[in-house]
Amino acid sequence: MTETDIKKGLAGVVVDTTAVSKVVQETNSLTYRGYPVQELAANCSFEEVAYLIWNGELPSAAQLEEFTARERSQRAVDDKLVDLILGLPKDCHPMHVVQTAVAYLGSVDPEADVEGEEANRAKAERLYAQLPTIVAIDHRRRHGLDPVAPTTDLPYAANFFKMVFDEVPADEVVRCFDISMILYAEHSFNASTFTARVITSTTSDLYSAVAGAVGALKGPLHGGANEAVMAMLEEVGTADKAEAWIDNALANKQKIMGFGHRVYKNGDSRVPTMRAAFEDMVKVKGADELLALYNAFEEDFVGRKGIYPNLDYPSGPAYHLMGFDTEQFTPIFVMSRITGWTAHIMEQQASNALIRPLSAYDGEEQREVPADRG
Ligand code: CMC
Repeated sequence: MTETDIKKGLAGVVVDTTAVSKVVQETNSLTYRGYPVQELAANCSFEEVAYLIWNGELPSAAQLEEFTARERSQRAVDDKLVDLILGLPKDCHPMHVVQTAVAYLGSVDPEADVEGEEANRAKAERLYAQLPTIVAIDHRRRHGLDPVAPTTDLPYAANFFKMVFDEVPADEVVRCFDISMILYAEHSFNASTFTARVITSTTSDLYSAVAGAVGALKGPLHGGANEAVMAMLEEVGTADKAEAWIDNALANKQKIMGFGHRVYKNGDSRVPTMRAAFEDMVKVKGADELLALYNAFEEDFVGRKGIYPNLDYPSGPAYHLMGFDTEQFTPIFVMSRITGWTAHIMEQQASNALIRPLSAYDGEEQREVPADRG
């Protein structure tokens, strides 16, 4: 095997087919089940997009009513899970809380190992309904606050704000959040989805696949970038300091968070929509300084390197202005991507082949175990 046969990072390798979403590298575009993601963000709610991702079609009014009623009825988590979350170290990373909660939900589901579309759909919908409750409990406990029970009368996004802050903000804020949920929902064979598919390919269960995907998403080269962007902007401070900060970071060979993409090399089609949502948040909160920093930083870095922002660049500061703690940004990403992950898990299960690539060995030549090991 030559070095050219090795596809480090699986870059450019097509490993399977999928009907869930399409990424077109040449035009930097993304469609879910055939619909451009920016059109979905402009015209739909996250609930409609979740339905689309699982069912292949947008729901009729009656289908949406039935689907949202099912989601609302499953939002509450059991007391043992609440106690489990409250007992975890307060300084642990919230993605470990999410991973623990997903593993717990698997442990108490008598159908955890039941395969097939119907059983998996039920598990996927339960996770979609309960992840916001889990994230909200964790968000509040870090501020010494008791959980706020989920409502059954508020839509998905408004209910999440209610559970985190005990109040629902202005409609524009809720809509910005909903748009971020739509944009984060699905992205073909990204690292966390691929992780979920690898785990599923061994005929392991959906909860195990999701827990593994949460682990993959946590890393800053993937989903962890949204919180890393905010931490970076806070470190930079103000627009006038961007240039010097970038000089120093590049001199130290640091990766700039929220820029670059394995697939999109000339811009990410989700960014203009999320940037507009961020600008709406800037207007609501009067955060002109943050916008000035955001613009100066982007202009400087893109000008130097020709590497464009990805979705995490506008979503990080948008979540900050919504009031969420920075370390909860990636768990919020999980709340959305659970839809894409589980659609892929079901797709993988429906036409499974064990995912087991090869490696080129470059260690010691074969040798004998010495009798005398001194
Ligand atoms: N900052 C500085 N240099 C960069 C960056 C960046 N953000 N992204 C790419 N480069 C450079 C890189 O150093 C390399 O340069 P050279 O050829 O001189 O060594 C060249 O561009 C190619 O980069 P790469 O790392 O080989 O490309 P990749 O396809 O393996 O990496 C990436 C893609 C997303 C891991 C990378 O761009 C990165 O680390 N970005 C920062 C983290 C980030 O924003 N992640 C979120 C990704 S998108 C949303 C998601 O998945 O959740």
